[in-house]
Amino acid sequence: MNIDGAEVRQTTDGYRAQVSRNQLRFATIAESYAGGQARRLDVELLAELIRPLEFERALDVATGTAAAAAVAAKVGVRPKIIGVDSSAQMLAQARANGEVDSVQLVVALVEELPFADGTFDLVMCTRALHHVRRPEIVVAEMARVVRPGGHVVIADNVTGLSGAAHEQFEQIQRVRDPGHATTQTEQQLLDLLRDNSLDVVEGHRTTSFRPLDEWLHDGGAGPAESAEIRRQLLPLGHIDDDGNFGTSVVLREGEVAGLQQAMSWIKAQRSDAI
Ligand SMILES: C[S@@+](CC[C@H](N)C(=O)[O-])C[C@H]1O[C@@H](n2cnc3c(N)ncnc32)[C@H](O)[C@@H]1O
Repeated sequence: MNIDGAEVRQTTDGYRAQVSRNQLRFATIAESYAGGQARRLDVELLAELIRPLEFERALDVATGTAAAAAVAAKVGVRPKIIGVDSSAQMLAQARANGEVDSVQLVVALVEELPFADGTFDLVMCTRALHHVRRPEIVVAEMARVVRPGGHVVIADNVTGLSGAAHEQFEQIQRVRDPGHATTQTEQQLLDLLRDNSLDVVEGHRTTSFRPLDEWLHDGGAGPAESAEIRRQLLPLGHIDDDGNFGTSVVLREGEVAGLQQAMSWIKAQRSDAI
């Protein structure tokens, strides 16, 4: 066995296999992501959340094709924006988009941010925490690199399901997209922030209908997987989530029409006490 640092981490931290799954996945779908999913980010809501912060130095972790970094570049004051991602192909798509010329793009893991403590005024992560195996490591890294008094913004899909129904839906999402890890509840996102001395200062909830065919296409599922997913999603359309905020399966005339996708947007501030 090789004893270099990377292998030691693989066995102790347990997230490298998931990183590899995502690298493979996003290398394959980078171009279609740039033309589709990237454009569905609610850029107005993100701008509303970060504009009042009047930041200069911002970091977008798991930036992908830099959709959120582009918003920061527009609304920051003398902005100096860095985006990091594990996928060189996603960053290549970002570079091909003239809107992010001013953003510095770096290949790095969100679990191992290559920046000194307290470097940034603002650290963001949009639509990516459900792809990582150890979200607690990622949020701890985000908290580490934001300066005392600086802000962290997390926006992600959330689940309102629990127990067997939650597990079943997560399993379906991994079939659709092998880079999917686990969807958090909104409460889990709040806890991750608070566990890292990040005080929640603002929150928003959004929902959007995703037609099933579009959702399957975005994930890159082939025809056989799509048919199986369609079949497995059907019973979840009848699940009662006790009114919890989270993504649900939408049925029409007895068939799965799509998903009502729920996202939580949370802004938090690093307390000076760290
Ligand atoms: C769904 S995309 C979101 C991209 C972007 N934040 C957005 O809102 O459009 C998820 C991104 O997370 C990246 N990613 C997944 N795991 C990562 C890791 N451990 N370190 C860095 N990037 C990672 C993927 O390469 C992909 O670009």
